[in-house]
Amino acid sequence: MNNTLKNKRILISAGASGIGWATAKICLLKGATVFLCDVQKKYLSKIKKHKQINKKLFTYHCDASSEDDVIQLFTKISKKTKKLDCLINNVGVAGPTGTIEKLSSIQWEKTLKTNVISHFYFTKLAIPMLKKNKGGSIINMSSGAGIMGFPLRSPYAASKWAVIGITKTLAMELGKFKIRVNAICPGTIKGNRMVRVIRDKAKFLKISKKSVEKEFISMSSINSWVYEEDIGYMCSFLISEDAKRISGQVIGVDGNATRLD
Ligand SMILES: NC(=O)c1ccc[n+]([C@@H]2O[C@H](COP(=O)([O-])OP(=O)(O)OC[C@H]3O[C@@H](n4cnc5c(N)ncnc54)[C@H](O)[C@@H]3O)[C@@H](O)[C@H]2O)c1
Repeated sequence: MNNTLKNKRILISAGASGIGWATAKICLLKGATVFLCDVQKKYLSKIKKHKQINKKLFTYHCDASSEDDVIQLFTKISKKTKKLDCLINNVGVAGPTGTIEKLSSIQWEKTLKTNVISHFYFTKLAIPMLKKNKGGSIINMSSGAGIMGFPLRSPYAASKWAVIGITKTLAMELGKFKIRVNAICPGTIKGNRMVRVIRDKAKFLKISKKSVEKEFISMSSINSWVYEEDIGYMCSFLISEDAKRISGQVIGVDGNATRLD
């Protein structure tokens, strides 16, 4: 790995496992300093060993969907750095599985709070630090469900389309400060999240998990899972100087997913 992210300071929400942690590891290997938060203490303690060997990793407990928690997080981070080069708004829950008549307003509100409003909490507080840095970038984690319909997952799809709307708007608001804003749409990622998504869909449709899995993989033209690291590499590219004129883009890392059903 090269040192393309040397001296970059990166904040990742929900970074202690999954895509966030894969991204953190790649950024650390490329020389960045990484601040990450997560709501699950079990994941935070699992990565403690990396904290000991990598002095450039700072981890915090924080519920991204709580504004108070996010304010406290930024207070703690500001003791280590006043400037940020990149915010990765990675937090996002899968939300419930079901047709809309079967879903509750609480499930809807919870999904939107975590997947959309939390991005607002982080972005609002990160912008002054990016401005102090005289530029940088914001990466928002959307999904294939942010550019296509996703039957049985309406709150998730609504939240991920909202992420694209925020991305496009912020790219226009922040361009004059040399802050670039892009969205990544990961495809079907091999990992814990998809294990749960496949289980819930199989249960709802009363079919086997194997057939749901096969169907998900077949939605991409390369007929393959996408891996957490694939998203990490796209993040590291977008943070780097090589991407200095890329903003306002919605970038699929999905092997060309043509449907999501
Ligand atoms: N996994 C996929 O197939 C996939 C596909 C498309 C988009 N995405 C998006 O990518 C992002 C990361 O996905 P993932 O699969 O790594 O997620 P994940 O479900 O594996 O969870 C990753 C981390 O999020 C943390 N987290 C959850 N709620 C939190 C909260 N309120 N505050 C702080 N941390 C919280 C969890 O503790 C966990 O460590 C999400 O926005 C997701 O919607 C994932």
